[in-house]
Amino acid sequence: MKLRLSMRVNGNAVELEIEPHRTLLEVLRNDLGLAGVREGCSTGDCGACTVLVNGKPLVSCLMLAPDAEGASIVTIEGLAKDGKLDPMQEAFVAKGAIQCGFCTPGMILAAKTEDIPEGNLCRCTGYTKIQEAIREERRTTRPQA
Ligand code: FES
Ligand code: FES
Repeated sequence: MKLRLSMRVNGNAVELEIEPHRTLLEVLRNDLGLAGVREGCSTGDCGACTVLVNGKPLVSCLMLAPDAEGASIVTIEGLAKDGKLDPMQEAFVAKGAIQCGFCTPGMILAAKTEDIPEGNLCRCTGYTKIQEAIREERRTTRPQA
């Protein structure tokens, strides 16, 4: 049996027929070709598959795709606007906060809403630069009154 799934992904309306047991991670990567949604552990432990669901960072490997019905999803592919990187992406580039890049999409999306992401692991252990980039983004986009 297949279910009909309607959601918005990176601002675009998407309609799919899916098996109900599939995860949001599988649908985003395999059906929609959004390879920036990374598959690390598949058990909710690494944060590589983090996407924004209605503005909140969630691990898409633990979310069944049918639960995204009607939701607005943002992946790393949807952050840049009008050909310009998001300030968090720019800060990661400026601070050299990327090594292999596997954790980077999830880390950036989580950092958009959390001070310093606690549920995102970097297997390259480049945490110092990542923290510097996040603080830089905070400093430049959210100046203290
Ligand atoms: S792949 Fe989802 S948390 Fe690791
Ligand atoms: S940069 Fe390699 S996993 Fe984080």
